[in-house]
Amino acid sequence: MSEKETDEKCLKMADMNKNQELSKASRLSVAPMMDWTDRHCRYFHRLMSRRALLYTEMVTAPALVRGGALHLLDFNPEEHPVALQLGGSEPEELKAATKFCVDHGYDEVNLNVGCPSDRVQSGAFGAVLMKSPDLVADCVAAMQEAAGEVPVTVKCRIGVDDQAPSEVLPDFLSKMQAAGVARITVHARKAWLDGLSPKENRDIPPLDYDLVHAMKREFPDLHLSLNGGIQSLDMVEEELSHMDGVMVGRAAYHQPYDILGQADQRIFGDPRAALSRHEVALAMEDYIGRHLAAGGKLAQVTKHMLGLFAGQPGARRWKRVLSEGAHKDGAGFELVKEALPG
Ligand SMILES: Cc1cc2nc3c(=O)[nH]c(=O)nc-3n(C[C@H](O)[C@H](O)[C@H](O)COP(=O)(O)O)c2cc1C
Repeated sequence: MSEKETDEKCLKMADMNKNQELSKASRLSVAPMMDWTDRHCRYFHRLMSRRALLYTEMVTAPALVRGGALHLLDFNPEEHPVALQLGGSEPEELKAATKFCVDHGYDEVNLNVGCPSDRVQSGAFGAVLMKSPDLVADCVAAMQEAAGEVPVTVKCRIGVDDQAPSEVLPDFLSKMQAAGVARITVHARKAWLDGLSPKENRDIPPLDYDLVHAMKREFPDLHLSLNGGIQSLDMVEEELSHMDGVMVGRAAYHQPYDILGQADQRIFGDPRAALSRHEVALAMEDYIGRHLAAGGKLAQVTKHMLGLFAGQPGARRWKRVLSEGAHKDGAGFELVKEALPG
């Protein structure tokens, strides 16, 4: 074997190991959430779990490709493993956007087939794509061409509007499998594109975990994660007895320590000791210092930290001191120390 061939083989093996690690990380992931899971939030979450997979907010392919808004891709090196979620429905544009994501160093590129907001519907992407599985397969194929060894994944619903989930979901999944998608996360409820707001679409259509479990039995070789309504690490563990992975959204944002604080030990078998809630808060000092020195505001970071003490003594005061003080001119890390429960 020539030196070049040996190098290529080594690189391929390194990619394979990386993808295995990523697949393990996806046992527990924090969902993409617009305006919530920004880079400050992800840095904070990463202090609680070194292992969970973190998703960005959705970035649209047109914003990157037509708008040149590449700053939307900036992230902190500490955030790895981190997946960028793209919105779009035009294969060539998604391919170009994927190339930007891969060049920026993202570990995974995810396609949004689950978001029901009006803005997203009008651009013909998000959940409405559940009605066009062949187009989604073309999008995934185009993204894979640009992604190389970086996995391309999909986040979807069980169906939209008057679709029958037990019919459309298996068809959708088999098309994704044929397109070679690396992993799929299913938000286990329908989206109603007419009549329900995006927020209502996260609560009103009933959850159907049984259907998602049945899909895992029907597609044993497809890596499937369940999303929607997971409230605790106990629930994550229970779902992992059916599924390859679990994605947590709102609970990870509002009670981050309850979901992420013990996740490395319980979900990933990591022997390293977890940080306490206080240690997590104090560990934000350098990051906040850098953010303020670069002209940022304290509230941009601390708004994501309000749930750190959820359910603990002093939680209300922590939230109040930060909410009232962090947006004021000159507010610095001392406010975080002042807000800490005694
Ligand atoms: C504020 C907010 C913003 C969201 N933004 C996105 C998004 O950009 N892309 C996406 O696929 N899902 C988005 N979602 C949906 C979540 O990823 C997740 O599917 C949903 O909240 C259900 O999971 P949960 O019950 O664990 O919160 C958002 C949810 C919330 C609460």
